[in-house]
Amino acid sequence: MTFSDMRDPHSFYVPGQPRITHIEWFIDTFDFKRKVMTATANLTFDKSGYTNLDTRGLEILDVWGGDSPVESSLDVPHAMLGTKLSVNVPEGKVVSIEYSTSPEASGIQWMDAKLGGGKPFVYTQGEAINARSYIPCQDTPSIKQTMHAHISTPKRFKLRSLVAASEHVSRALCNNKTYDEEWDMPYPIPSYLIAFAIGGLESREVSHRSRVWALPDVVDAAAEEFKDIERLMQIGEDLFGPYPFGRYDMLVLPPAFPYGGMEHPCLSYLTPALITGDGSGIGTLAHELAHSWTGNLVTNWNWDAFCLNEGPTVWAENRILEVYWGFDAAQVHNKLLEREFEIDCASCRKRNEWYLTKLAPGADDVDPDSIFSRVPYFKGERLLTTIEQYVGRERFDEFMRAWLDIYAFKSATIEMFIGALTGYFGQEVVDHLRIHEWFYEPGLPDNSPAITSPLIDVVEKAANELRIPANDEGWSTEQRQLYLELLPRPLSREFIIALDEALDLRSEPNIEVRWSYLVAALDADHGGIWPDILPDVDVFLHTQGRMKYLKPLYNALAATPKGLAFAHKVFKTAKKNYHPVATKMVNAVLQEAA
Ligand code: BES
Ligand code: ZN
Repeated sequence: MTFSDMRDPHSFYVPGQPRITHIEWFIDTFDFKRKVMTATANLTFDKSGYTNLDTRGLEILDVWGGDSPVESSLDVPHAMLGTKLSVNVPEGKVVSIEYSTSPEASGIQWMDAKLGGGKPFVYTQGEAINARSYIPCQDTPSIKQTMHAHISTPKRFKLRSLVAASEHVSRALCNNKTYDEEWDMPYPIPSYLIAFAIGGLESREVSHRSRVWALPDVVDAAAEEFKDIERLMQIGEDLFGPYPFGRYDMLVLPPAFPYGGMEHPCLSYLTPALITGDGSGIGTLAHELAHSWTGNLVTNWNWDAFCLNEGPTVWAENRILEVYWGFDAAQVHNKLLEREFEIDCASCRKRNEWYLTKLAPGADDVDPDSIFSRVPYFKGERLLTTIEQYVGRERFDEFMRAWLDIYAFKSATIEMFIGALTGYFGQEVVDHLRIHEWFYEPGLPDNSPAITSPLIDVVEKAANELRIPANDEGWSTEQRQLYLELLPRPLSREFIIALDEALDLRSEPNIEVRWSYLVAALDADHGGIWPDILPDVDVFLHTQGRMKYLKPLYNALAATPKGLAFAHKVFKTAKKNYHPVATKMVNAVLQEAA
């Protein structure tokens, strides 16, 4: 069997069937009350004949090709995959599908004026398998297509429509009723990167190829925070080759956004928590930018190869930060990721899911969202760094450029990556570094290099000695967070209170640092929760929707019956602010605890 006959277990598409090459997308109406949008997708295929599309919760209103109806059938829904839509692609190779979405769509977050800064705000988020809830498509990262999109929004809200696309073609008032905006994406992208956002957005130009989009109250601060994007892009280009997608715009979402960032080509999404004024948010920006090469240009062939997106991206992010911040600060940044990785590994062990610490876990029958962890990120990055240190930076950089070049605008499997490594460095190197163990065995191999830096040493020493640093020791924000993360657990309540008294952590403006403190506080005293901290946790859980923050906080609460009761109470009112995928995740945490 060659890879091209291999089915993606997370899609109904069967290899050999007609594949989508281009999408023309008309998003016609938004019903903000019912949380429903209606749209038409004109799908162009590479040939005629029967093919399968992925949908989830879509109501299919009409299917036609040219001016004739097209034979089609909708299967019964599958719990993980959604509903298979089979169509018989006619000779003209274009199938048009008119449809409406479900209010429960897993890939759309609808926000009312309260959450959207005074106007309705709606956006999509497709990764991993949620694009099918807002567009009928071949929802597998092994297929790439170009796209042209038209979005109409009601005139009265004066909304802006953004699409992850390199060219804004036009914006016009139509029939004095709607604003119609048109976007073109000439670069082929996988379905999970298809995205749009509408809202009361404003923008600031930060370079000839970048602007920052955000709600009016944060747009200036966001433009200031991300003003060095051009410098970061140039560092990326020096390392990995010309920026592949024309423009690089950034969209700052409301705090309900469930991720730190999402690498939509030409339009990275970013959480507003990155607007810190202290520069610490650049780490995440560098990550999303790095995806332009690793993930968006060369894409994981299926979700079992997710480590081919995230591992090289963390490696590339660190390489960019090494130039931008210097080596030692970049190490501190990676040490924070290592800590997240270790917590995830401990949780895999506790839940008897050690196999999830494999880079290729083979979890074909579950939704990739439900096994999300830092394993593909950190272990993937350590793998590349292990090779880099062995063969030397110069040779490894050459290899990575060749890899990106050969698979540009294509998708790749782990086997192809190992094949490329073998071809470039020889079988002996691959065997010596135990590349197969790295990909196919659980845990972190013992040839993984340690992360070291004097900036880590001082923090580690203070943490081990339970010494509270003075405010004027010159630590960076990431060092302050790392200190909190490295403090030996569980801490005593007295120490948690002393930390706050010395460092004012409950009023800490940096969200990452405040979050680390809240998690440590909930974990203190073996769960004998300090009552004073609960109002802070309550506010945090009501105002932040990033899953990285929610999961450990809900987990910590769920560890004791009293905490669990509190968590249920908070979730009941906070969940209307959460993204559907975040709601599902918190539900799973609370259910498991019950
Ligand atoms: N592509 C991911 C976000 C994602 C992963 C969304 C899987 C849906 C499914 C993005 O690039 C990412 O990795 N974000 C990280 C950034 C961090 C590593 C700096 C995040 O959100 O934490
Ligand atoms: Zn990523």
